[in-house]
Amino acid sequence: MKVLLIGSGGREHALAWKMAQSPRLEKLYVAPGNGGTALVAENIALDVTDHAAVTRFCQTEAIDLVVVGPEAPLVAGLADDLRAAGFDVFGPSKAAAQLEGSKAFTKVLCDEMNIPTAGYGRFDSLEPALAYVRVQGAPIVIKADGLAAGKGVTVAMTLEEAEAALVDCFSGSFGAAGAEVVIEEFLEGEEVSIFAICDGERFVTLASAQDHKRAYDNDEGPNTGGMGAYSPAAVMTPELLTEVERNIIAPTVKGMVQRGTPFQGVLYAGLILTAEGPKLIEYNARFGDPECQVLMLRLKSDVIEILEASAKGDMTGIVPDWQDDVALTVVMAAKGYPGSYAKGTPIHQADAQNSADVQVFHAGTARDGEMLRANGGRVLNVTALGGTTADAQAKAYEALDRIDWADGFCRRDIGWRAIAREHKNA
Ligand code: AMP
Ligand code: GLY
Repeated sequence: MKVLLIGSGGREHALAWKMAQSPRLEKLYVAPGNGGTALVAENIALDVTDHAAVTRFCQTEAIDLVVVGPEAPLVAGLADDLRAAGFDVFGPSKAAAQLEGSKAFTKVLCDEMNIPTAGYGRFDSLEPALAYVRVQGAPIVIKADGLAAGKGVTVAMTLEEAEAALVDCFSGSFGAAGAEVVIEEFLEGEEVSIFAICDGERFVTLASAQDHKRAYDNDEGPNTGGMGAYSPAAVMTPELLTEVERNIIAPTVKGMVQRGTPFQGVLYAGLILTAEGPKLIEYNARFGDPECQVLMLRLKSDVIEILEASAKGDMTGIVPDWQDDVALTVVMAAKGYPGSYAKGTPIHQADAQNSADVQVFHAGTARDGEMLRANGGRVLNVTALGGTTADAQAKAYEALDRIDWADGFCRRDIGWRAIAREHKNA
């Protein structure tokens, strides 16, 4: 089978690494890819916003399956155009990707299908939005409606912060994405991610994972795309998972069918485990990054079989098999991230750590002859398997400390919630 994978993050290196192990894979292209995907696939400099060019490439190379990693091409309708040209695609249509592309769309679906989520209001101008937060009080959450590269959400602990976030949104800080704002009730509880692979009608949930969104230790500092993750998240018990499948995932899949826009791809549910049970805070229409990295390290099944079944619209009989071990990944980011940072700084020994239970997935890296250079904010994902979260964490940091990159930083406490739980139960 010939596969084209779209994207250039750590998520795509993990997917490419796992696909490369499939006996069914004949050829893997990654567009545009990074310094890590170059080790397991052929990187292709395709402009993924040019759908005609991507379609031509698939025709010329007789591609059997296209896997779309990030949200932007999905929301732009790349999957629709490729399907119209007759290709099997893993990733939802433009209409179904609205689950990620519009917070208001998801809120309306939750209302229609009775899906537990935070209470909310929707506004398209400043004054009524300000009036609403003054009545509701803080803490409260302000969300730009559209895609804002993970920067459109403000968890306001004070009324002043909430008002400033609204002024910011409506003054055009997020462009069109901020023309509408969703204001949400602040939910108290632990956050966890669940991934469901859907074929339009059916779904299978994958292992659970927990991300670390804040830039610095102790969950301090600005929000980022994610600084580390681990799987499984023991806080997501089998009972809670059943509840999430029944009350959140199943009605979402059904609601999308009823609207005539079935969801085919991976549905990533961001949940908060509140005292009243799990509640949805967001949907994404793609794998989490870095959550995908820990899932791929634990997955025993052939990932191509799973992605292809979704793309072909029939997941009957697909039951993913997982290693019992915990996988944990630590993100090494360029100093300054998520603010401004330098590009092009040299990295040594990044790939020297790989072993049976350690894999360094690349995100923002590029090869410059023999040299590896940083080429983005989040740069490496040092990922390890261990019998416990503490064990996986120790192995990940041991490998990370052997990487020689003067311009990088990482959090030192990835997995702390699970490790505290392990200590308590020991
Ligand atoms: P999102 O981009 O929707 O994932 O939001 C970014 C982060 O804001 C989430 O990971 C949560 O930590 C936090 N957040 C979002 N919505 C809520 C909410 N309703 N209550 C509390 N925290 C939230
Ligand atoms: N790790 C969070 C995300 O992929 O959105």
